[in-house]
Amino acid sequence: MLVLAIESSCDETAAAVVRDGREILSNVIASQVKDHAVFGGVVPEIASRKHLEAVVPVIGAALSEAGVTLAEIGGIAVTQGPGLAGALLVGIATAKGLAYGRRLPIVGVNHIEGHLLAAFLERPVEFPFLALAVSGGHSHLYRVEGIGRYATLGQTLDDAAGEAFDKVAKLLGLSYPGGVLIDRLAAEGNPEAIRFPRPLLHDGSFNFSFSGLKTAVLTHLRSHPEACLGEALKDLCASFQAAACDVLVRKTAAAAAATGLTRVVVAGGVACNSGLRREMEQLARQRGLELHIPSPLLCSDNAAMNAVPGDFYLEQGMTSGFGFDALPVWPLDRMAERLDRISMPTLPN
Ligand code: KG4
Ligand code: ZN
Repeated sequence: MLVLAIESSCDETAAAVVRDGREILSNVIASQVKDHAVFGGVVPEIASRKHLEAVVPVIGAALSEAGVTLAEIGGIAVTQGPGLAGALLVGIATAKGLAYGRRLPIVGVNHIEGHLLAAFLERPVEFPFLALAVSGGHSHLYRVEGIGRYATLGQTLDDAAGEAFDKVAKLLGLSYPGGVLIDRLAAEGNPEAIRFPRPLLHDGSFNFSFSGLKTAVLTHLRSHPEACLGEALKDLCASFQAAACDVLVRKTAAAAAATGLTRVVVAGGVACNSGLRREMEQLARQRGLELHIPSPLLCSDNAAMNAVPGDFYLEQGMTSGFGFDALPVWPLDRMAERLDRISMPTLPN
């Protein structure tokens, strides 16, 4: 089956055509980053308006790049949540309109579920596996039993990993989103120049906390104002990144050891981070873990990832009908509740 997947949860309008939930025929992404950078973060109202402008052309581009027409599409998968309500609504309303007009089944998928399953677009991963989701809104460790079957092992108590990268970048005077800029500067700095704290490393839980690390950077900047410049900036970025990645890697290692899971998936925008990728690879080698980190394009927000769960649900006749709403907050543990509620296709006459 060909699935048309749509994503509009934050600041990327994306559409993709994917065959059988595995083979990407197209994966088009229109980024709004420049529209928000001037404000230092995503402005929800601007995001909704930009999605409205982009969504139809992006879907058109995804179909034409895939070389297919809507007549060949077997179903639609759209991000239902979590995310910005107004932004989600644009993707959902467009998906519903297309589904209604073309008599297509439609299913709402969880954005984080898409991130966790994006790895399947490159190579299959056997269940169960341990998943670390690190994005602008998430720093979560999950046990994944199957598609739609997720259990949270730990999560951030305050800032998400991506949020910490972006907030520290802002403190350093870097533009939004700063995660990738910190990554680039860190590559040329000394990760041992400053010993930043590794929060919650020894608390015995699989939770994270990044706001103390951010405060430690702020405190360092107050006593070393020159740390924002030149070589010192590179050292600071490298030291902050080392602390953040150290916690992410060591908590993942602890969760793997405690659960006995030997397959690990790292997903979400922060999984693009070169330091995190390197350290995870080292951990996998040392512990004999099977590691899956998707290519950077599939780690950050895209629509193709929605087609993995989307295809699975649609093939089983599990659709969301036309009455479903955006879920701005939607923990993955509550998937089962939703799966019970979603119904067989309710197509117009
Ligand atoms: O998954 P994603 O694209 O969107 C959300 O669902 O939030 O993740 C975006 C986050 C941003 O905080 C961004 O700064 C961060 O991922 N990010 C990075 C890198 N690339 C993106 N953080 C650190 N290093 C990177 N290379
Ligand atoms: Zn995301």
